[in-house]
Amino acid sequence: MRAHRRMSAWATVVLLLLLGGCGIGDTGGDLALNALDPAPGSPAVELDRLWDLVFPIAVGVFVLVQTLILVAVFRFRRRKDDDDRQLPKQVAGNTRLEVLWTIIPAVVLVFVAIPTVQTIFSQNEVDDDAMNVRVIAKQYWFEFEYMDEAQGGVVTATQLHIPTGREVQLHMQSVAVNQASSYDPAAFPDGPTGEVAQGVIHNFWVPRLAGKTYIVPGHTRTMKLSTTEAGLYLGQCAEFCGLGHPNMEFSVLAEDPATFDEWIAAQADPAEVVDEGLAAEGQQLFNDLTCVQCHAIEGYPAQGLPDGEVVPLDEQARIGPNLTHFNTRDKFAGNILETESDDDLRRWLENPQREKPGAQMPNLNLRPDQIDALVAYMRTLD
Ligand code: CUA
Repeated sequence: MRAHRRMSAWATVVLLLLLGGCGIGDTGGDLALNALDPAPGSPAVELDRLWDLVFPIAVGVFVLVQTLILVAVFRFRRRKDDDDRQLPKQVAGNTRLEVLWTIIPAVVLVFVAIPTVQTIFSQNEVDDDAMNVRVIAKQYWFEFEYMDEAQGGVVTATQLHIPTGREVQLHMQSVAVNQASSYDPAAFPDGPTGEVAQGVIHNFWVPRLAGKTYIVPGHTRTMKLSTTEAGLYLGQCAEFCGLGHPNMEFSVLAEDPATFDEWIAAQADPAEVVDEGLAAEGQQLFNDLTCVQCHAIEGYPAQGLPDGEVVPLDEQARIGPNLTHFNTRDKFAGNILETESDDDLRRWLENPQREKPGAQMPNLNLRPDQIDALVAYMRTLD
C-alpha cells in the first residue's frame, strides 16, 4: 500500500514537470504554430483575447471542483472505528445549495457565451475592399488562386502571399486527386452543390493568423486572414486527410503592399522559353516525360520545342502545382522541401513517394541525366 502511494506521488511530480513544458504564457514568438502568440491585426488576436478571458475562469472552476472532491474524499473517508454494518448518515436535498449551484454555473456560462458568440461572428466579417483568394485543397498541398481582376488570376502553391493591413477573404474548396477542372469557378458555386463529394475533408489552419476552418468537399467555405505585421506564418492542414496529411503544410507570407504588388506583377509574367543548353533539354523532357499532363507553366512552348507555339495557360493541366514561378516559393512538396536546394529537388524527382508518402506525383524512374536536365530547366522558372 505504501509503495503504491509513493508511486502515485512520483507520477504526480513527473506529470507536473511535463505540463510545465507546455510553455503557457509568453513564448516570444519562437513557436511558429502558436495560437497564443497571434500576429498583430489578425483575427487570431480576438481568439487570443477570448482565451485570456475563458482560461482563468476554467482554471478557477477546475481548482474549485477538484478541491471540493478532495475535501469530500478525505474528510468523509471510512475510518477504522466505523461500523461496517451501518449505513452512513443519510442527507436529503438542500434547496438553498441546489439553487446556488445551478445559478452560479448558469451565470458563468452566459458570461462566457456572450463574447464567444460575438467572436464567432466577427471572425467572418470582412471589409468591402477585401482581396479574394480561392484556396483549393488537394492531396496533399494547397493551391492559391487570386480571384480579383487586380491580381490577374495568379495561381501559386504552398506559399500564399498577402499584403499587410488588408483583409483577405479565402474561398476554400476541396477537390479529388485527379480533378483537372479544379480552378473552374462554375464547378464550385458558393454553398452546397448537392453533388457527390469530391476530394476529402481538409482543415486550413494558420495558428498565428486565424482559427481553423474545415474545407468540406462540395462546399465553398470562407474565412478571413489579415495582419499588420510583415512576416512568414506557418500553416498546417489540421484534419487527417490521408497518408500525406502530416506533410500537408503551407505558409502565409505577409508583405507590405508595395512588395506584394511587385510580387503579383512578376507572377503574372510567363516563363521564358529556353532555346539552348541543358535547360532546353529539360524543357523538352518536361513535355516528353508527360510532366505537362499535370503541371502548368505559363508560356510553355508546344511540344517543348523552343520554336513552337506557346500553349495558353487555360489549356494547360492543373492537377499538380503551377510551376511557372517555382523558384519564387521558399518551399515545395507541401512545404517540406527547400526550393533552392538542388539536392531536395533531385531527391523529389527521383522518388516523390519516398520524400512525401502518399504524394500523387508518380515515380517516373528518371535517369540521373534526365534529372540533371529537368533541374536545369526548373532553375529557369524564376
Ligand atoms: Cu489535408 Cu490533412
